[in-house]
Amino acid sequence: MARLDPHSYADDSHSKVIAVDWEARVDFASRTLEATALLELDAPSLAGPLDLDSRKLTVIAISDAQDNPIEFSLGAADPVLGSKLSLMLPAGVKTVKIRYRTAPDASALQWLEPAQTAGGKHPYLFSQCQAIHTRSILPLQDTPSRRITYKAKLTVPAPLRALMAAGFVSREVVGEQAVERWAMPQPLAPYLFAFAVGELEARKLGERSMVWAEPSVVDAAAWEFEEIDKMLDAGEALFGAYAWERFDILVMPPSFPYGGMENPRLTFVTPTLLAKDRSQVRVIAHELAHAWTGNLVTNSNAEHFWLNEGWTRYAELRITEVVEGPDSAALLAAICRHDLDETVERFARAGQGALTRLRTHLTGVDPDEAFSVVPYDKGELFLRTIEGKVGRERFDVFAKRYLEKFRFGAVTTEEFLAFTEVELPGVLASIDAARWIDGEGVPEGAPSVRSAKLAAVEAMGSALPPAGLELSSTEWNLWLDRLPRPMPRAFCETLDQRFPFTSTGNMEVKVSWLRVALSSGYDDVLPEVRRVLGTVGRMKYLVPLYAALLERTETAALARSIFEQAAPSYHPIARAVLKGRLAASPA
Ligand code: BES
Ligand code: ZN
Repeated sequence: MARLDPHSYADDSHSKVIAVDWEARVDFASRTLEATALLELDAPSLAGPLDLDSRKLTVIAISDAQDNPIEFSLGAADPVLGSKLSLMLPAGVKTVKIRYRTAPDASALQWLEPAQTAGGKHPYLFSQCQAIHTRSILPLQDTPSRRITYKAKLTVPAPLRALMAAGFVSREVVGEQAVERWAMPQPLAPYLFAFAVGELEARKLGERSMVWAEPSVVDAAAWEFEEIDKMLDAGEALFGAYAWERFDILVMPPSFPYGGMENPRLTFVTPTLLAKDRSQVRVIAHELAHAWTGNLVTNSNAEHFWLNEGWTRYAELRITEVVEGPDSAALLAAICRHDLDETVERFARAGQGALTRLRTHLTGVDPDEAFSVVPYDKGELFLRTIEGKVGRERFDVFAKRYLEKFRFGAVTTEEFLAFTEVELPGVLASIDAARWIDGEGVPEGAPSVRSAKLAAVEAMGSALPPAGLELSSTEWNLWLDRLPRPMPRAFCETLDQRFPFTSTGNMEVKVSWLRVALSSGYDDVLPEVRRVLGTVGRMKYLVPLYAALLERTETAALARSIFEQAAPSYHPIARAVLKGRLAASPA
């Protein structure tokens, strides 16, 4: 008997749960799901235990399919893992039926008041299960080394739609309630289980795509993502046929904690992508790329997260190169490199250099706390180093063979390396792969980015750009990120007068600017910082803005008071992460 994953109670000697039939009634008043899960096992059980993951679930009854009770015990809650739900199976059970209720503070769910939505009339509910939150809404073996198919029936208030990252089956209105049925025939890792309930409408984008959003947002969203087909075509040319049939997008309310989440068939994205200039579609390229790298071939557990995100960053840049050209891809790669270097330095200063390895060791560590851009951008650089060594043509064959070999499966770093050694003999030794995998920081000689546009931005240095200078948002972004800090107050003041950074609708540019301003003591931006922290839930923006406030004693107390005020509107994951960062900061 052995645990499969440091973040799951799943045991490899127990039966496998291979399919789930889920029914849930969504109750906005009590903020709970009243649910029944039928878990189908791979084969009739032998007499013995079946350990499942759960978090804050109230288990009402467990039985077999014929309603014969099954004995169970619910363990004490571990702060990272949650509670082990241990079933004592008799021999011959093929299906386990669990009746349960979720907690109002289930970590996967955010319940929004009507005032927190764009429409302001109806409540909203959504899930975010990666990395290990599925267990707070569904008891199962919550490890990406296992896959499930599922069927679901959601009962919601009739004015609302219930969407799932799955195939639509039917919707039926019965009195005040609507019953929506969805099914996912392709086996997926449990962290990809996802749904949203709200006042939602769709617009068609392409033959395989539509975008969903609240009615007042949906047309802007359709415009922003109009070019989706080009990306799908680019993805398929690079990585093989798209395996999930549809690629729809759901634009979330502003509190969504991520830029995007690659839920299969229905990518969830932050509304901050609606910059009105299509400049943020790279996030769509990224989530689309996960259809291959992540959803089709999945990291075995969070210690191999770079296999998901490093590969996906690589694929995102390749798709961007096809759709927008090599210069755009190079600028994005340069922004990534800058973020990576900054993050590696931050970890080193905090004595957390171990989190800058590609293969990490996370027993007892919450994956949400370990999250950073390192697996993304160091992972991408590692893959690009291999590409540089063998040439693009051979690398592309290698990538396709990797995706083919581990299709609908899970991979560890060790398995990836063994596969690479067979496919590209000698290459790992030639680039000192061990240094990349188990070493800290970015190895010397990592590939660097070059392009004419990048060189032009670099040449701007930290001189004040002339009024009227027109750059793309990505160029501004990069220039702002590379500015030394603190900058003189007069510099910030002039910049603020010359360019609409404080008021721009492009959040990437805005946040890069606000960070420069805060680190330079240019406190005229505080009202805007406060507004952003109070209305946007994307952690990519919240974390650095709070960090910039905490940096200076003059604004540290303000960070805490803004957090006190805004915390109830943050997603539980964002709230937990920020609470940790605030607690770790002195004073
Ligand atoms: N899968 C991630 C988001 C995630 C990671 C959620 C870990 C929970 C735990 C998603 O694909 C992602 O990487 N999103 C990025 C977008 C990007 C890199 C373009 C984000 O949210 O910023
Ligand atoms: Zn990703």
